[in-house]
Amino acid sequence: MSRKYLALLLALGLSSPIFAETPAPVAPATPPVPAATPVAVVPPAPAAPAAPALIFDAESKEYNAKPGDAAANFTFSLTNVSAAEVIITNVATSCGCTVAQLPSQPWHLAPGASGEIKATMNLAGKQGRVTKQLTVNSSVGIKALLVHSIIPAAPAPAPAENLRADREKNMELAKADRQAVFKGDCASCHVAKGVGKMGHDLFEADCNICHQNTPSRAAMVPDLAQPKLRDQNYWRSWITHGRVGSMMPAFGNSEGGPLSNEQIESLVTYLYQTFPKEPEAPAAQTPPTLPIRILKP
Ligand code: HEC
Ligand code: HEC
Repeated sequence: MSRKYLALLLALGLSSPIFAETPAPVAPATPPVPAATPVAVVPPAPAAPAAPALIFDAESKEYNAKPGDAAANFTFSLTNVSAAEVIITNVATSCGCTVAQLPSQPWHLAPGASGEIKATMNLAGKQGRVTKQLTVNSSVGIKALLVHSIIPAAPAPAPAENLRADREKNMELAKADRQAVFKGDCASCHVAKGVGKMGHDLFEADCNICHQNTPSRAAMVPDLAQPKLRDQNYWRSWITHGRVGSMMPAFGNSEGGPLSNEQIESLVTYLYQTFPKEPEAPAAQTPPTLPIRILKP
């Protein structure tokens, strides 16, 4: 019996050093549990309802847009009135049309420091009162700010657009009937201005309206100031008959146009004298200069 116990004790005694090494892997399972408790012991929760750390100059801002304004800009001023640094991580907006900007991101505001959050609302296609929210996410919580834009009703299309549409419509009419410029409403601009005028003044009123030497001249209307081989007959014929199948109308009374023979002749004289009659010979100016200088002693 005692030998049996001895054997058992020995067995235990021998085995114990073996067990002494093995417990090690078992141990890690336990430590995390006690470790978690000391962290949970610190309860900062009750401190929260104290005075706000960030003071804003306003919680909402309003912008009265003028017709044609593309964007509304807003600026919120804020101050960190707490004794600790406040970090503003970002400002989210309730619409892709509104973009908020921080001086830096994240933005560190030292105790007592102030600064600005800027926001821009794109007003394109908007009308009436439009409100968007800015959400300021910071280390001291979330703050919601509102921006309002009051946008006037869409303005009537710009005069330039009206003119462009008219111009295309007019061209269509002129293509169908080159004499259309002398009829109906067209006449108020294309005929009335030239009534009773002669020469230069008549040209300005009746011809330059289409042939004006500016970038707005239509592509199919030639620049009359371009040098060309032309005599009085050239001018007389173009003015009197224009050209069938083009938008150049026939101005002659004989063809239903508004100009008398006297007016046409005044234009012929003015144009023949004033406008370049033929392209200048390109060789005329350059070659003689150099040899002549060399020959002079
Ligand atoms: C309010 C004045 C006005 C009226 C009305 C008017 N036009 Fe014009 N038109 C112009 C002016 C100015 C131009 C020179 C181009 C420009 O600046 O738009 C022009 C140019 C043109 C041209 C040359 C192509 C071009 O676009 O430059 C044609 C063709 C023409 N008008 C036809 C007509 C016809 C047809 C009518 C009537 C249906 C008409 N216009 C009525 C002012 C007028
Ligand atoms: C309604 C617009 C319009 C008015 C007004 C007008 N023209 Fe024209 N004119 C044209 C167009 C378009 C052409 C081009 C015709 C073509 O396709 O060949 C042209 C061509 C000409 C040409 C030929 C130029 C070249 O280099 O081929 C002359 C010259 C001319 N016009 C003179 C006049 C004179 C002078 C007046 C005034 C009495 C006048 N035009 C008034 C539209 C106009």
